[in-house]
Amino acid sequence: MKVLHVAAEIYPLVKTGGLADVVAALPVAQQRQGLDVRLLLPGLPQVLEAVQGARTVADIGACFGAMRVRLLLGRLPGSLLPVYVVEAPYLYRRGGGPYHDDRGDEWPDNLQRFALLGWVAAHLAGGDADAQWVPEVMHAHDWHAAMGCAYMADHAPTGAASIFTVHNLAFQGLFPLHDWPLLGLGSRLMSPAGLEYHGQLSFMKAGLKFADRVVTVSPRYAREIATPEFGCGLDGVIRGRGEHVTGILNGIDDDVWDPARDSALVHRYDAARLQGKQACRRALQAELGLQPDDAALLVTVISRLTQQKGLDLMLAALPALLQSGAQLAVQGTGEPALEAAFTEAQRAHPGRVHCFIGYDEARAHRLIAGADAIAVPSRFEPCGLTQLYGLRYGTLPIVRRVGGLADTVIDDAGPGPANGFVFDAATPAALTQCLLRAAALRQFPEAWRARMAAGMGQQLSWVGPARQYAQLYAQATGAPVARA
Ligand code: ADP
Ligand code: GLC
Repeated sequence: MKVLHVAAEIYPLVKTGGLADVVAALPVAQQRQGLDVRLLLPGLPQVLEAVQGARTVADIGACFGAMRVRLLLGRLPGSLLPVYVVEAPYLYRRGGGPYHDDRGDEWPDNLQRFALLGWVAAHLAGGDADAQWVPEVMHAHDWHAAMGCAYMADHAPTGAASIFTVHNLAFQGLFPLHDWPLLGLGSRLMSPAGLEYHGQLSFMKAGLKFADRVVTVSPRYAREIATPEFGCGLDGVIRGRGEHVTGILNGIDDDVWDPARDSALVHRYDAARLQGKQACRRALQAELGLQPDDAALLVTVISRLTQQKGLDLMLAALPALLQSGAQLAVQGTGEPALEAAFTEAQRAHPGRVHCFIGYDEARAHRLIAGADAIAVPSRFEPCGLTQLYGLRYGTLPIVRRVGGLADTVIDDAGPGPANGFVFDAATPAALTQCLLRAAALRQFPEAWRARMAAGMGQQLSWVGPARQYAQLYAQATGAPVARA
């Protein structure tokens, strides 16, 4: 089965969140299972610099406002996966992030930048961009790649099936309707049954409406987004797709997240040899200037600091958490008010609260290894990867019962052995109560270690999810269903 993954981010080259981790790991897991996998990425500077042995497979010329567009084929360093790169200097060669400039403003030409990505994906799927390799599945990730599904539907018949994975329904790629002519799509798609969304153009709808199958990154999120509470205005569209919307839980990349092999750690460990975790904890307290207290519950937060992540609840719960003797180490970037509030908490509680406003991968590994617990009190969470990293590292997740958090963390009275702590209401009181339960349990080392063991023993790799995707590809293409 030939599969083309299309995305805007890939760890470690371009990353704004968990999407990049998924795009780096799922294709490799699929390749190991015998699929013929390639990627398609926009030619952002970090991608063009890293890609090895690139050669031109199509000279596309001028399109979407760019004078010079070429399709390159090379290999990714490390995994050596074949990767197509859309080289369009006018659209992609710039500093800042993949979607925003350095000030945090969206790039004004995002419509052209991501329409081009989808348009090239459709041409690869149609066999006219690279006749040597024609995918049977075009797998688009999030709104950035979703237009591939619309172009494929508009230029039928394309032999390939399209799969669209929703990593986060809250980011939709909305543009002014008057930019419609720039897309070069048939007018039948410019209606509420197509891309039109309350007087705007929605790239997210291109994926939700026109992909052969829609996948969310956890089963529970698939059910949640069919409701007004979590549907971000698109719950009707989701319900309209019926059984063609399913959830496949993300895995984690064992090559990057494994406490027994983690190169970011001075002390390594696994479930049978936990002394290393204790050493990581002491080293972390020393590094962060936290009191060298073995009894305190050390909670970490590693997150985008946004409304989604419920970190205002964490701030509200902080006085009671500290009162219980616990410590908090935060690492994140995002909304200025949250950045300021956590920075202030560190100033007010030296030795008890540490806050690092910034992005640092190696540091994130040290925090997860050294902390006792990781808090993810999200308002909504399509999957969430940091709680999975926590489970793998024996760092108990403290999470709200939503989306992928609910699918992966089990508390007392859950469907299996407890591996963390779960609360329901998005209120300071509910989170506080949950944090205090964790702090209390930490005083009973055997009970605590039982939860660590449950999490560390879980199968969280990409092997299972990659098989589930393969089965979905088989259904969507009509190929014989592979045996799991
Ligand atoms: P989301 O994609 O919604 O941000 P996930 O939990 O799926 O949430 O993925 C977040 C990813 O980003 C994880 O790999 C996490 O470790 C990483 N991350 C988030 N903030 C930081 C930070 N400040 N420094 C390092 N890594 C971070
Ligand atoms: C999104 C979601 C997050 C998920 C990640 C990877 O960024 O917010 O919950 O884990 O995508 O699928």
